[in-house]
Amino acid sequence: MATDEQIEHLRQLKERAKLGGGVERIDAQHGRGRLTARERLDLLLDKGSFREVDAFVVHRTHDFGLVRQQYLADSVVTGWGTIMGRLVYVFSQDFTVFGGSLGEVHAEKICKIMDMAMKSGAPLIGLNDSGGARIQEGVVSLGGYADIFLRNTLASGVIPQISAIMGPCAGGAVYSPALTDFIFMVKNSSYMFVTGPDVVKSVTHEDVSFEDLGGASVHGSLSGVCHYVAENEADALYLIRKLLSYIPQNNMEDPPYVPTSDDPLRTEAELDSLVPDNPNKPYDMKDAIRLVVDDGEFFEIHEQYAMNVVVGFARLGGHSVGVVANQPALLAGVLDIDASEKAARFIRFCDCFNVPLVTFEDVPGFLPGVKQEHGGIIRSGAKLLYAYCEATVPKLTVITRKAYGGAYDVMSSKHIRGDLNFAWPTAEIAVMGPDGAVSIIFRKELAEAADPVARKAELVREYREKFANPYVAASRGYIDDVIEPHETRARLINGLEMLQNKRDSNPQKKHGNIPL
Ligand code: HXC
Repeated sequence: MATDEQIEHLRQLKERAKLGGGVERIDAQHGRGRLTARERLDLLLDKGSFREVDAFVVHRTHDFGLVRQQYLADSVVTGWGTIMGRLVYVFSQDFTVFGGSLGEVHAEKICKIMDMAMKSGAPLIGLNDSGGARIQEGVVSLGGYADIFLRNTLASGVIPQISAIMGPCAGGAVYSPALTDFIFMVKNSSYMFVTGPDVVKSVTHEDVSFEDLGGASVHGSLSGVCHYVAENEADALYLIRKLLSYIPQNNMEDPPYVPTSDDPLRTEAELDSLVPDNPNKPYDMKDAIRLVVDDGEFFEIHEQYAMNVVVGFARLGGHSVGVVANQPALLAGVLDIDASEKAARFIRFCDCFNVPLVTFEDVPGFLPGVKQEHGGIIRSGAKLLYAYCEATVPKLTVITRKAYGGAYDVMSSKHIRGDLNFAWPTAEIAVMGPDGAVSIIFRKELAEAADPVARKAELVREYREKFANPYVAASRGYIDDVIEPHETRARLINGLEMLQNKRDSNPQKKHGNIPL
């Protein structure tokens, strides 16, 4: 039987581990406006569900006087717990111990948790707050990073991996979060960069602050590295919980079904007048999404990045779906490099984890321009095409207005295994818009016309009547049905349920070669 002293000793050790780098450093962490590693886990996980492992682990380094500075659990807290009753594995870097820096045992602890997450098929969540490689441990810490990178890669597409950046994340350390599925950052309190402002200054002579180089706003809107910019730490942790409610535990499961009181047959008259009479007038596709999905709840990803395409999670009749939508309110919903890559990555996530795709389409085509061509719009557009072609989850599409040119093919068309393709009566499905088409095919006639402006208007009207509608495509079976906008919700839910047991596969191969 364990003696009272043994029990007391154990309790003392565990209390000591909880103090990390000590009260002073905890106060300093709070002084920076940040929570500690353990406080974060308390907010992230269901109350009382956290079970820690490796609290007795200490580093094994003797150099630089480190032997006199040993902290139980070292600089990362690891274990598992539940989120809304579902198992998740977690690590939370402890900035109060050597600035959360990653040395040999820190890496071993993370790897152990990653291996457990893979074996049990449960999501992995990493809360990052670290000064990077532990300088005193040299190449051993670099090896530790590589051990993690390998596991991130092998786990990709098997279990969801989510990263939150709660403080610094610099140097090669950025590549573990970058290999995961979603990155959350905290406004004005977190940053990610490969080389910091000092190195930037010495190499390129640019003066830039931490925030302007790699803050949440930069990565949330310019680079697209960050998928979600949170207002504060509690917000970030709450959003991670919310994200998990839409996705399964692993690639062998379906996403959770969440019963809803929102009538699956609900009609929305507002949808009937959403698309303006003038085909060049913008409208907000997010209105369409919110009017259609359960309780108007749309969990948008990459909200501030490449806003001409919209992606995110929602539910239809309780079934989780990934929504991909062109956004006519921005750049007319055109597809450019960033939008193509943003949508492609989201589609691939959904396909990995059995989340059906619902596409709302209003796209005039790919963005013309030297910058786009030289920037590789061919390669980026091909990524989007590849992602849609490869996806075997149920794919449902609603063409609300324009589906022109290559963009018609790309956006989950019937030809690339779209399962159910609807169009609203306002849909215009053609090789290009009436104006451009008439200018090309009637160039000669227009040049010779007595009143070229009037003649062009007449030809445009004729073209629009003949081609810029959904019925040419529908007569070929490229569109399964032309539906009234107000019945979109009911038709999508019916379609999803019809496709619930859909089976499709790709040819056996080691892996495809997506045009990266
Ligand atoms: C060891 C470190 C550390 C590190 C911070 N500390 N970074 N210890 N290795 N990399 C320690 C500090 O000594 C200090 O210890 C405590 O953490 C808090 O650090 P402060 O500097 O006091 O905090 P702050 O002012 O908030 O600055 C945070 C910081 C800064 C910006 C992160 O510490 C910093 O620049 N650190 C070095 C970052 C870096 O260059 N890392 C290597 C990147 S290269 P005490 O005892 O005072 O509490 C890399 C390669 C990875 O990571 C490659 C993977 C492939």
